[in-house]
Amino acid sequence: MWKKSLCLLIPCVLIAYYCYAPIPHEIEQHWELMMIWSFMRIQMHIAPLLEMLGFGPFPLLEILVVPPISDENVTVTDNLFNNVSVRVFVPKQKSSTPRRAVFYIHGGGWVTGSAAWGPYDELGRWMVERLDAVVVSTDYRLLPKYHFPTQFEDVYDVLRWFLRKKVLAEYGVDPTRICIAGDSAGGNLVAAVNQKLLNDPEIKIKVKIQSLIYPVLQALDMDLPSYRENSHMVIVKKQQMAEFWSRYFTSDKALLEAMVANQHTPVESSHLFKFVNWSTLLPERFKKGHVYTTPIHGPSELAKKYPGFLDVQASPLLADDSTLRRLPLTHILTCQYDVLRDDGLMYLSRLRAADVRVVHEHVEDGFHGILSFGSSLLNFRAGKREVNKYLKWLKENL
Ligand SMILES: *[C@@H]1O[C@H](CO)[C@@H](O)[C@H](O)[C@H]1NC(C)=O
Ligand SMILES: *[C@@H]1O[C@H](CO)[C@@H](O)[C@H](O)[C@H]1NC(C)=O
Ligand SMILES: *[C@@H]1O[C@H](CO)[C@@H](O)[C@H](O)[C@H]1NC(C)=O
Repeated sequence: MWKKSLCLLIPCVLIAYYCYAPIPHEIEQHWELMMIWSFMRIQMHIAPLLEMLGFGPFPLLEILVVPPISDENVTVTDNLFNNVSVRVFVPKQKSSTPRRAVFYIHGGGWVTGSAAWGPYDELGRWMVERLDAVVVSTDYRLLPKYHFPTQFEDVYDVLRWFLRKKVLAEYGVDPTRICIAGDSAGGNLVAAVNQKLLNDPEIKIKVKIQSLIYPVLQALDMDLPSYRENSHMVIVKKQQMAEFWSRYFTSDKALLEAMVANQHTPVESSHLFKFVNWSTLLPERFKKGHVYTTPIHGPSELAKKYPGFLDVQASPLLADDSTLRRLPLTHILTCQYDVLRDDGLMYLSRLRAADVRVVHEHVEDGFHGILSFGSSLLNFRAGKREVNKYLKWLKENL
């Protein structure tokens, strides 16, 4: 009898363990989200084993890849540029005037994701359909094989190729109507490449709009109110974000442990804390009952070995005002239930203080990745609503 009960109990406990998630009641479609979350968690748990067996970090996500299929409205092609794969969407209908263009950078913690994933492929098609835009959706080499700054450099190289007069003319793109957009780790790369672009005398063509969708913007303080409130939230937990961040620079677990404890920045770099001081940079309503404490200093050796996390090309929030001031019209989307919420909010404050025009969309019932949840694969109502708003905004402003 007890054996039978045990047989029943174990699967129940496992199911409860994998399904359980503290999903706030504001978020709709609880059950669907819980199923997706349990699939993600199982995958994260078996990832180290699969990596040991020689697979990539998230081989199961390969099911998301779709081939580049053209139809009567759009020509879709995969191209290799410097060994980096780029999916290009060009409207089929002839146009008498040059078109606008969106240069898109996907998310996935620098460790996974692809322009060929269904939800990104679909977003590209929607941009063609709604904006009549040429869409260039770039990949970049991923962790754990490649660390920072490979991801940044890959994207910058593709951008440099695209922003040439000759290439833009080939695709029929108007050089004054280009947007660089991306989500999550892709939002990090958007902010970083745009800052570099401003100071690059070799690239004459600049962009009209940058769009940061729940971006990752700093690695210095992992004890922001959004990290505290959402440390166990669905899609990206605090622990995972610390893993993405530390792995961006190294596989050495010492950096991960220091980041989780928020003791990784050396005393020599304390002057950088002012750029990520949420006590001054967050609007009142997001500070609520939280008490600010300066992160504890970490050992200098860690920063000497892995200086990347103090680099502005990895943490764009560390840029000074003289750089920020020259940024183009910026669109920032943040979600309430997201560890990365306050990264976006702090960048918003810094850009506004530097007199940059910024449009902010805060999704009250949103969680990390909400736009991808609007794809036909996942079909979340809140995701669809946000995608539609986003495309409408781009149509009016690009
Ligand atoms: C192509 O565009 C037309 C007009 O907008 C639309 O009715 C049709 O469904 C589109 N075709 C595909 C395959 O999306
Ligand atoms: C592209 O990748 C191949 C195989 O990995 C390598 O041999 C070649 O040198 C790479 N080319 C460039 C331009 O990086
Ligand atoms: C952060 O801001 C608060 C409030 O303005 C200030 O008291 C504190 O010294 C600042 N800390 C750092 C490290 O900049």
